[in-house]
Amino acid sequence: MPYRSSLITIERHIADQQHLHPYATGAFSRLLRDLMLAIRVISREVRRAGFADVFGTTGDENVHGEAVRKLDDFSNETIIKAMRYGGHLCAMASEEAEGIIPIPDALQKGSYVLLFDPLDGSSNIDINVTIGTIFSIFRRVSPDIDQTGDMDDLTQPGYRQVAAGYALYGSSTALVYTTGNGVDMFTYDPTLGEFLLSNPSIKMPEHGGYYSINEGNSLRWHEGMQNYIAYLKDEDSETKRPYSLRYIGTAVADVHRTLMYGGIFLYPADKKSPRGKLRLMYEVNPLAMLIEQAGGLAVDGRNRVLDLVPESLHQRCPLMCGSVKDVEKAQTFVENDPISEEVRENIAASTP
Ligand code: AHG
Ligand code: MN
Ligand code: MN
Repeated sequence: MPYRSSLITIERHIADQQHLHPYATGAFSRLLRDLMLAIRVISREVRRAGFADVFGTTGDENVHGEAVRKLDDFSNETIIKAMRYGGHLCAMASEEAEGIIPIPDALQKGSYVLLFDPLDGSSNIDINVTIGTIFSIFRRVSPDIDQTGDMDDLTQPGYRQVAAGYALYGSSTALVYTTGNGVDMFTYDPTLGEFLLSNPSIKMPEHGGYYSINEGNSLRWHEGMQNYIAYLKDEDSETKRPYSLRYIGTAVADVHRTLMYGGIFLYPADKKSPRGKLRLMYEVNPLAMLIEQAGGLAVDGRNRVLDLVPESLHQRCPLMCGSVKDVEKAQTFVENDPISEEVRENIAASTP
């Protein structure tokens, strides 16, 4: 049996790391503890999905026009319920809610905001394939600590995230998170009810052998993207091509594999979707922070994702992320691909 040098719970780990944060007050640790509770509840529900009446859709559509599954709804409600009363947040925003989720007047407000994708990979819920929860945390910027947070608090550029992470409901439940000092992974032990540190300080390989993209969209890709994927499929022993294709269709699971094994994950802009599919605030920003903290790169094709200035809560954003060498190579292919006028104007407006 392999020797484990330590047995560290996530709570102990967070407490140990507090000294690394100049703003550490204990409130941040309590915020994360509340979030872990929500994740444990969602994990329990995911595990019993096959038995319970939690499969299928609710019959409603979310703000993105997508069918809402019962587990999407349940996860969304669970996070809101677990976080609302803690006194650590001044506002929340969720992929499954239209506007700001305020902290009600009667409740104490705090210094942080939380943005989340309660359940990523909805199309995989009913077929027992890995799904996840993604979160992103910022400090509030609005000055009145007694007031609920506003849109300025929630639409900050990604480089201002103070923490980001995800839970994966796969063959085990894992939690991968960063507070800007590297990336650590914890594995949930259901018999103990604890997340235990399983992979400290994850560093991703400089290049990998996997690429991950929805190739069904290939006719809609711009020329550079088509050439890049064709390049990955070419034979060349020196650069270990062809790469192998892996695509789960759950962004957080595809990015997790990329983080652990290296390679590249792409959800690019194309002729039909000039901003790609993934959502900047709930998926792209937190995944980009984790990838960078593990030594990788995350770009929208041209710009570092974390430098993008958000225009709205639910905006979409193209994503190319993974091993440094793979992302750099991809960029050389796509640098001349057209970008929509709308996106171009926004880049011009946000460049100092
Ligand atoms: P969500 O389930 O939160 O709506 O996100 C689904 C996203 C993402 O997880 C995944 O990478 C992508 O949709 C898959 O899209 P395609 O089916 O277009 O490949
Ligand atoms: Mn998602
Ligand atoms: Mn979702």
